[in-house]
Amino acid sequence: MKTSRRNFIESSLKSAVLATIGTPLIMKSTSAYASHSINTAALQFSQVKLPYAYNALEPNIDAMTMEIHYTKHHAAYVKNVNEAIAAENISFGSEKDFFANASKLSPKAKNNGGGVWNHNFFWEVMAPSAGGAPTGKIADAINGSFTSFDKFKEQFTTAAMGRFGSGWAWLVKDGDKLKIGSTPNQDNPLMDNSDLKGTPLLALDVWEHAYYLKYQNKRNEYVANWWNVVNWNEVAKRLA
Ligand SMILES: [Fe+2]
Repeated sequence: MKTSRRNFIESSLKSAVLATIGTPLIMKSTSAYASHSINTAALQFSQVKLPYAYNALEPNIDAMTMEIHYTKHHAAYVKNVNEAIAAENISFGSEKDFFANASKLSPKAKNNGGGVWNHNFFWEVMAPSAGGAPTGKIADAINGSFTSFDKFKEQFTTAAMGRFGSGWAWLVKDGDKLKIGSTPNQDNPLMDNSDLKGTPLLALDVWEHAYYLKYQNKRNEYVANWWNVVNWNEVAKRLA
């Protein structure tokens, strides 16, 4: 009796120890970067409809670059982030929550989620027959924060040119002030890990895939011509 009782106790202890150390291992193997929130509906990212034809921003942005950028690069970010959300059981209910917890996400989820959001934003702040200087409230805000539109353009261009490698230049609203900065890769100012924080008003994609076919290594020419397609009406909406 004594022997069988000891066996029972030993085997119970072993089970308890295995249960304790086994659980995190199982969780880690299936969901190394799983994020949890109270929402149960899984977030799905999607592409906005391009608000103009592929050739609409010619000659500033060529049709082939627009088509490849939208149908290949942007579409791939959508596919990849949604795969990551499913595989990792990411259950944030909104893009806002997703980015506010970006530092806890896997590189695949974070980079591709940023890629989707940033491009959706980028398409919408450009338009054919646009550019020039803004008017109204957005002009006042720019003048208030940067002295003049020319100074603002200069500072924004410096941010776009100064981003080494791939990334984005941004104009954001932070409290009462507008700020200019840049982020690496597909990071954006909504991410908790971003040095630049605020409400995005304007963005410029400075990845080579955004300009290489037409401009090759001349990022400066791409940036200079991009001002001709900035949709200030959309930027102003984001200020409100
Ligand atoms: Fe891009």
